[in-house]
This record gives sequence, structure tokens and C-alpha cells, in this order.
Amino acid sequence: MSSVDTPAASHAALMDGVYRRQRHIYDLTRKYYLLGRDRLIAGLNAPADSAVLELGCGTGRNLVRAARRFPSTHLFGLDISAQMLTSAQQSIERNGLSGRVLLAQGDATNFDTNALFGIGSFDRIFVSYSLSMIPGWERTVAAALAALCPGGSLHIVDFGRQEGLPRWFRRLLRLWLAKFQVTPRDSLRQVLESEAERSGASLYFETLYLGYASLAIMTRSVAPLTAADAPWQAGQPPVSVAGN
Ligand SMILES: C[S@@+](CC[C@H](N)C(=O)[O-])C[C@H]1O[C@@H](n2cnc3c(N)ncnc32)[C@H](O)[C@@H]1O
Repeated sequence: MSSVDTPAASHAALMDGVYRRQRHIYDLTRKYYLLGRDRLIAGLNAPADSAVLELGCGTGRNLVRAARRFPSTHLFGLDISAQMLTSAQQSIERNGLSGRVLLAQGDATNFDTNALFGIGSFDRIFVSYSLSMIPGWERTVAAALAALCPGGSLHIVDFGRQEGLPRWFRRLLRLWLAKFQVTPRDSLRQVLESEAERSGASLYFETLYLGYASLAIMTRSVAPLTAADAPWQAGQPPVSVAGN
């Protein structure tokens, strides 16, 4: 970890703290409440030879499933937590996918995929239950759109507003999620709508399980984006969170 105490380094330390022990039971426990992840993966429809990036890849569970479902794709995973990346790397090796899945440590709000992976744009990018843990998550959405190939798509699944569920359930769920540094992004739909308008992307938005979760797909137009689409990236180098 970097000796410089940047916000990204502090957040990386926070995530490592959350997941140091949790990562060992993560896949077993999260399958019961991180709903919609397999639906997101199925909807990637990743073409042969395409490049697929997950932002906030955690234990690599989704990358392994995507690799199996789309056998001739090249997969990349970025996460801010070295602890989670250790689990992800082990899982990728266990599943014989070392040649197809590449991992890197980085901040999903400000990253340079050329430096991290040697590739500048992706056919598919997905973010699964990570926006709710990322401070400045709106920047992740814009950065992901900017990293898409023309015609590529960004797929998001995360906690929704729980508007169709009993109030007591919503309150308890949010108290419990807060213990893990998770905050459902109630403005997700509005932010995606304004990003779609700004970038010329199309937006599909679906509410799942009475609002428990939201699923979104943004498809970039075939016209190339300009620096104006990612202004914070133009004048600012990506923040480094690794330094060990
Ligand atoms: C709830 S887990 C989701 C993991 C996986 N995507 C899944 O669906 O199982 C959230 C992940 O986001 C990562 N994360 C949080 N903030 C991040 C950031 N700023 N940049 C990159 N990853 C981040 C955490 O370290 C954690 O691995």
C-alpha cells in the first residue's frame, strides 16, 4: 500500500479491513443476497475475442462465470482491495483461467487501463454491487463509459431503492449494509439518465425483486467520445493505490 495517505489509499485500506476475513466466506454468503449477478453476466452477450472488464471484481466470482459463459473472450478485473485480489487470483488459477483473466489493483473512479492492462478500450464493462461501496461512484460510471469501444456496453447491477418492499425491511437492510460500508445509490437511475444524455449512450434500466436491486445497461454510440466526456481524466493522472 502507498505510504502517501491519499483518499484512494485510505479507501483501499478500508476495503482491505472489510474483506480481510470476509473474503474467505464471501462467495458462500453473498450468493443469497447479491441478486441479479448471473442475469447481468448472461446479458453481457460478449462476442468472440471481445475484451470484458469488471470494475470492483472482488473475489473474481463474476469473472470466472463470465469466462465460462463466453469462452473466447479476454477478461480483466480491477479492484482497490489487495485482499480481494488475492482471493480473485487464487480462484482464477484454481479454475485454470490464468491465461484469459488479468487482474490489477486500482481505483474505479480514476484508472488508466493502458497502464494497468495494456488495453485502452473494452467491448463490455460491468460493475456488480460495487457502486454502492465506491465513494464518488458517479465518476466510475463516466470513466467506464469513456473506456468503452464504440458500440460497447456498460452493465450495472446493485442494490435498488427497495420501494416495493416493507419499510421495516428497507430500514433493517440498510442498517445491516452500512456495517459493510455499503450505501445503496438511490440516485442511480437519475445519474445514469444524465450520463446517457451527456455521452449520447442509450440506457436500459430495470427494477428487480420489488426494488431490491437495479439492473442497467448503457450502450455507447458508435461515434468516438472526446476528452470532454471524461474531463477529470484529461488533466489529472490516475491515482495510484498500490506501492508495495
Ligand atoms: C460487494 S463487492 C462486489 C464484488 C463483485 N463485483 C461481486 O459482484 O461479487 C465490492 C467490491 O468493490 C471493491 N471496491 C470498493 N471501492 C472500490 C474502488 N474505489 N475501486 C475499485 N474497487 C472498489 C471492493 O474492494 C470489493 O471488492
